[in-house]
Amino acid sequence: MELNTMRLAIEGGPKSKTTENFPMYPGGYEIGELEKQAVIDVINDKYLFRYYGPANVESRVKKFEEEFVAKIGVKYGLATNSCTSALISSLVAMGVGPGDEVIVPGYTFFASCACIVAAKAVPVIVEVDDSLTIDPNDFEKKITPRTKVVIAVHMRGVPCDMDRILSIANTHNIKVLEDVAQATGGSYHGKRLGSIGDMGAFSFQYHKIITAGEGGIITTNDERLIDRSMAYHDTAACWRPGGPAGRFVKARYEGELFPGVNFRMSELTGAVLRAQLTRLDDLLLRMNSNKNRIKNAISGIKGLEFRRLNDAAGDTGIVLIFYVPSPELAGKFAQALNAEGIGASSLHNKSVPDWHVYNHWDMILNKWTSTSDGCPYTCPHYIAKGGKIEYSPEMNPKTLELLGRSIHIDIPPQLSAQDCDMIAEGIIKVSNAYL
Ligand SMILES: Cc1ncc(COP(=O)(O)O)c(C=O)c1O
Repeated sequence: MELNTMRLAIEGGPKSKTTENFPMYPGGYEIGELEKQAVIDVINDKYLFRYYGPANVESRVKKFEEEFVAKIGVKYGLATNSCTSALISSLVAMGVGPGDEVIVPGYTFFASCACIVAAKAVPVIVEVDDSLTIDPNDFEKKITPRTKVVIAVHMRGVPCDMDRILSIANTHNIKVLEDVAQATGGSYHGKRLGSIGDMGAFSFQYHKIITAGEGGIITTNDERLIDRSMAYHDTAACWRPGGPAGRFVKARYEGELFPGVNFRMSELTGAVLRAQLTRLDDLLLRMNSNKNRIKNAISGIKGLEFRRLNDAAGDTGIVLIFYVPSPELAGKFAQALNAEGIGASSLHNKSVPDWHVYNHWDMILNKWTSTSDGCPYTCPHYIAKGGKIEYSPEMNPKTLELLGRSIHIDIPPQLSAQDCDMIAEGIIKVSNAYL
């Protein structure tokens, strides 16, 4: 085939991809008249706060919660100002606090781990497997009597092995919090992510599938958990009329009223998210179709192994990840793809800081905390339960090995069929030279 004899662009040959590269803002890049009108309507109504305003209109945040839970297939939703605040509120709702441990994978955005310390508990960081989501075997190995919750991160748009995670968690009486920040709309065995564990937390930050720049939502089927999240995420919740907090204050859960913070979502954000939600199915369809087109064109290349998927039908399609035989080759491979005009990176390089890989989480590895007494690591409740944790940059070698050999290519929905074919051509060309 002609590609076999073509010189690599990195060696002065012609580029494989000569068309525009789109940034990875799937929903953000599509913001248009729908979102514009939604914001104008909020301004015209002068209704910028969820609970009151001069006009008698229904809260857009509340409407968004209703539409989102219908899409995900859960009973309850609580909009927040970010996924980080959704994660913290969920942990607090599940009763996580001083003396507890929470298990989190070593490959995720740092927020999935930081939220644990923010909830005053100790993170236990475990391996990912070749799906680049939490390794159920290592999760089970790292359970202690102090483990209260496991955070299952549907990393880079694909589902965790939820059957095994739920089965292990049930056996050990551990709650499951799904971090769906990167996988809105994805599914596992026909159920939407965020509807499978005890709680789900989503992100609408600008880089995510649908976006309002910032934003998040908590999902659950458990009324008590949503009520407790509500009470925490809005310190004034106990005085709100009607809503879940109203039920909460009526001593529904005797003795459980506690002070909270303010993680509320703004009406402007809610309005934009209602518009973005109408785009979700189309975005997922386009990303998956692009990804499958590229995968089909490059399948069977010797030495190139696709990331294993726990349920291919539940993939959001945001990214194509494959492994090559060594980290040295991964670096070279990604550079060659960049020269071909294709945005690609290897997922772990020790010298390049990346807040998605645990060995760059200096604040955790060094147990840095906001006060000098060192809680939660030195908390008397933790010590009394026999808690003692040590971290090291090398503690999850399998995670580093897998990430070191992986190549990551974003799949924006905006790619045309021709763009996808050019990407596939570039991968074949570089594979022919290096694998
Ligand atoms: C896996 C994961 N969890 C949590 C977050 C935090 O989301 P937010 O920025 O909305 O707080 C992110 C954002 O990048 C993420 O990727």
